Amino acid sequence: MIELGVNIDHVATVRQARRGHEPCPVQAAFEAIAGGADSITVHLREDRRHVQDADVRRLRAEIPVALNLEMAATDEMVGIACEVRPAIAMLVPEGRHEVTTEGGLDVRAQAARVREVVQRLAAAGIPTSIFVDADPAQIDAAAKAGAKVCEVHTGPYAHAVLAAGGRTEDAAVQAELAKVRAAGAAIVAAGLQFNAGHGLATANVRPIAALPKVAELHIGHSIVSRAVFVGIRQAVAEMKLAMVEAAAG
Ligand code: PXP
Repeated sequence: MIELGVNIDHVATVRQARRGHEPCPVQAAFEAIAGGADSITVHLREDRRHVQDADVRRLRAEIPVALNLEMAATDEMVGIACEVRPAIAMLVPEGRHEVTTEGGLDVRAQAARVREVVQRLAAAGIPTSIFVDADPAQIDAAAKAGAKVCEVHTGPYAHAVLAAGGRTEDAAVQAELAKVRAAGAAIVAAGLQFNAGHGLATANVRPIAALPKVAELHIGHSIVSRAVFVGIRQAVAEMKLAMVEAAAG
């Protein structure tokens, strides 16, 4: 059954707007789990703009589902991951000026470094997922680096849906969807788990959730946005329902 990893970074974004205690990401995680989240994801950024170190530690200690730690492939983050021991480390590129992750990790350009990071994490018992563009060469490099999972960047697909006014049957949308589908097939052929995420919302998630062999979707911004109006529990439940229905065909 397809799984949903809920990214709660933007609960922490709202808290950091006042640098206080609310809303609490741990409480948000419990609400997300009550709504059907299979795992919880946080991105501990170098600039700590939203999630803080203490959030990661508390989540790891308190939530009853897998904690996915999204992180840059830096020595600092590897050290934190080895100490906190999330269920999986999700390597992403990170830029100080980006508002969100802008593209997949260029594994080919830094193959030796990525391999070393994956090995250090594996030695601590932590499997690695690598966030990649829908590019067979990057998937090949991620597999060679020892990743257990590749998460395909669905941002270009999501942008195509927006540009097409929501019409997923649009040719440009279908072209982006075909790239994600092909990437997923390459990931599975390489023996890795196929995950996908970025820019997904209830309006565009169904074609992605219906792709063959997709194991998990990682979704944050649209769920937290919807939660402002209906609460996290319901926002997650709506997303999970759309995913599960689409996956069941
Ligand atoms: N997957 C990865 C690797 C990400 O970096 C993000 C954003 O933090 C997401 C999924 C979730 O994207 P969104 O917030 O657009 O749902």
